[in-house]
Amino acid sequence: MRQSFLPITLLALMSHFANGQAAQKPDFYRPQYHFSPAKNWTNDPNGLLYHNGEYHIFYQYNPFANVWGHMSWGHAVSKDLLRWEHLPVAIPEFTHPDGKTMTSIFSGSAVIDKDNTSGLCPAGTKDCMVAIYTGNVTQGDKQLAQYQNVASSSDNGRTWKQYDKNPVLDLNSKEFRDPNVFWYAPQKKWVMSAVKATEHRVAFFESKDLKNWTLLSHFGQQGDTTKVWECPALMPVPIQNEPGKTKWVLFISAGHPQKDYVGMQYFVGDFDGKNFKLDPANPRPIAPAVSNVVDWGKDYYAAIQFNDLPAGQTGPLMVGWLNNWAYGNELPTTPFKGAMSLPRQISLKRTAAGLQLMQQPIATVAGLRTVNTTKPSMKVSSNSIVVEKAIDNTYELTVDIKPGTAKTVGVKLAKNGDEETVIQYVNGKLQFDRRKSGDTSFSKKFASVEETPLALQNGVIKLRIFVDKSVVEVFANEGERVITDLIFPTQPAGSIEFFAEGGSAEFSNVRVSPIKAVVPQ
Ligand code: FRU
Repeated sequence: MRQSFLPITLLALMSHFANGQAAQKPDFYRPQYHFSPAKNWTNDPNGLLYHNGEYHIFYQYNPFANVWGHMSWGHAVSKDLLRWEHLPVAIPEFTHPDGKTMTSIFSGSAVIDKDNTSGLCPAGTKDCMVAIYTGNVTQGDKQLAQYQNVASSSDNGRTWKQYDKNPVLDLNSKEFRDPNVFWYAPQKKWVMSAVKATEHRVAFFESKDLKNWTLLSHFGQQGDTTKVWECPALMPVPIQNEPGKTKWVLFISAGHPQKDYVGMQYFVGDFDGKNFKLDPANPRPIAPAVSNVVDWGKDYYAAIQFNDLPAGQTGPLMVGWLNNWAYGNELPTTPFKGAMSLPRQISLKRTAAGLQLMQQPIATVAGLRTVNTTKPSMKVSSNSIVVEKAIDNTYELTVDIKPGTAKTVGVKLAKNGDEETVIQYVNGKLQFDRRKSGDTSFSKKFASVEETPLALQNGVIKLRIFVDKSVVEVFANEGERVITDLIFPTQPAGSIEFFAEGGSAEFSNVRVSPIKAVVPQ
C-alpha cells in the first residue's frame, strides 16, 4: 500500500508525453490469457476460493479510476481458472453513519463456513461464504485504523452483507492487515495469519466461529525486513517424489533482498496449530546465498492460495499480482491497470540446499495453445538465429538450451530492430533484461536487469516462457526459478531470436505455441 499516488501519476504522464511517446490505443497492452479487469485499477488477488463448480477471484479494485484508491473487492468467477466471467463489485468501500469516516476493503481471504456455524448468514444457509478482510479506516487524508472485518454471502458471492459487529479483530494499530484464513482440520478450527506490517511480523490467530479470534503466536523479524511485510499466506505444500509428505510454507510479500523494490519471500518450516517454526535446513535469506525469493522478477507480488480446491485438483494453487508498487500507478496501460499471474501450482523439491520451492503454471494452460510449431534442434555459434519473424506477443515458448562453449546464451523476444526483451544465461545466472523492451519512460525505476542463480541440469537449462502482451512469465528448470516481468513493446508483434556469444550453444526441444485470447472483451 502506498499513498499520494496522484501527483506521481500526473508527473509520469507529463514526462511520458515530453519524451515524445505516443499513447497506445486502449487495451494495446491488455493480456489476452492472464486475468485483468476490463477497466480501472487492480492490485492484490483476494479471497481466492473454489465453491460449487466455480473458482472465485476477488481482487483489490478501484471502481472509479485507473489508479489506486477507493479500495473495494472486485469479483470474477471461472470454471477452469483461465476463462473468467466478470461480476459486479462484490464488497464496495463504504461510508460510516457519521458521513465522514470511510472504510476501504483492503486485502484478505474467503472461506466456506459449512452449515453456517458462524451464524453470519441467514439461518438455514447451507454454505456461507465469508470474507475476512482488512478495514482501512480513514477520515479525509487521515488514516485512523486497520483492523479485521468479516462479511458474508449466502448466494455464492453474488451479494454480501457486512457483519454488524465489525471489527472482529482490532489491535489498535494502523499497520495490521491482510488476514489469510484457512481451516486447520487436525484441531477443527480456523487459523488466520495477518501481518504487523512495520514490525515485520506475522501474527497467527485461531477461531471456532470466524468472529472471535485468539492470538496463537508470532513469526518474523528475520528474512528480508527492509520493507513492510504484507499479504502472508501459510499452507502445507507437498514434497515432490515423497507421496503423502508435506512441509509448511509461509509466504510473505515484502522487499526484495537485493534491490529497492518489492517482491516475495518464503519460509519453510512446521506448523502445529499454534506456532510456525522455521526449519533452518531449507533455503533462507542468509547472505550471500539469498535463496528464498519466490519470483526473481520485479512484477509478482501479494500472491495467496486458493481455499477449498475441489477433489482431484492438486494444490496448492497461488495467484499473484503482476505489478510493483515502485511504479505500479505509472504503467502506460489504459483503460485498465494491473493483471494477475497464471495460477501457479506449487510444490517443494528436495535439493542439497534443502526444500526448494517449485512453481509451475497450471497444467491446463496447455489447452489454450492454438498450434504447436516444433522446430529442429539448432546450433548457434557466436551469432543469432531468427526463430519466428513476426509473431503476435501472445504465445508460449519452450526451449532447452545447452550453453556449451558460449559465454552468453539466450532468447530475444518481442524484437523489432533495437527493441528487444532479452532472457539470457551468463556466469551461472539467468537474467531478464528489459532495458530495451519498449516503453520504459514512465518510471526511472522500470528499466532493469533481473537475475537469479540457476544451475544447469545435465548441462542444460529448460525454459518455458509465457508472453502475453505486457506480461512475461519465465519458468526455468521445471519451475525451480521463476522470473516475472512486465514489458511494454511498441509493436503488437515481434520476432523471436536465439543467440550465443563467445562460443557455440545448442537449442533443442523448441516449441512455439501461439495462445488463444480468452479474456472477456
Ligand atoms: C499489498 C497491499 C496490502 C493492502 C492492499 C491495499 O499490495 O498494500 O497490504 O491490504 O495492498 O490495496
